[in-house]
Amino acid sequence: DDVTTASVGVDDTRRQLTMLADEIRGCKKCPELFATRTQTVFGVGPDRPDICFIGEAPGADEDRQGEPFVGKAGQLLNRIITAAGLKREEIYICNVLKCRPPNNRTPAVDECKNCRPYLDRQLELLQPKVILCLGNVPTKNLLNTATGITRMRGQVYKYNGVPVVCTYHPSYIMRLEGQGEAERKAKLECWEDMKLMLKQ
Ligand code: URA
Repeated sequence: DDVTTASVGVDDTRRQLTMLADEIRGCKKCPELFATRTQTVFGVGPDRPDICFIGEAPGADEDRQGEPFVGKAGQLLNRIITAAGLKREEIYICNVLKCRPPNNRTPAVDECKNCRPYLDRQLELLQPKVILCLGNVPTKNLLNTATGITRMRGQVYKYNGVPVVCTYHPSYIMRLEGQGEAERKAKLECWEDMKLMLKQ
């Protein structure tokens, strides 16, 4: 109708992000995810952030609360953000998948494919100055590569002209807890990746 058409034409990032979130709320492209999700998890943060973090998919806490990284991994992410001298509220945080995969299984290739246009539109509206991919799923998805995070981290790539840095997923770092040297190395490399991101 007229009202809808008029609002689409307005250059209003917030309104378009809201419309995109509404569209995703009704998404039924992945029958299993549509059947099992409590709600979709779109993303949180400023409309025009300098920094955008991309994770994998909502977990149980995120599915319940409707916000990315609010569970255990989110608590570690918050510590990483603070250690880098940043504030969570100034970063836009979202995921490759907007729905929780059952039992937090790894997203299927088809699910990533189905959800990708949403992520592309989200990033187009947000226009971040730098993107940080957290772990294998966003790294492989956004950069269209089969190469894993261990080899992808520590360098700067481009997504539609936007610099992209990749680092370990906080859940991976959590799994290394108590493992001495492996844990120390992963945390140091994550720290280096954060510094690299901040230089962009
Ligand atoms: N892990 C993710 O990758 N994303 C979330 O939102 C929460 C945990």
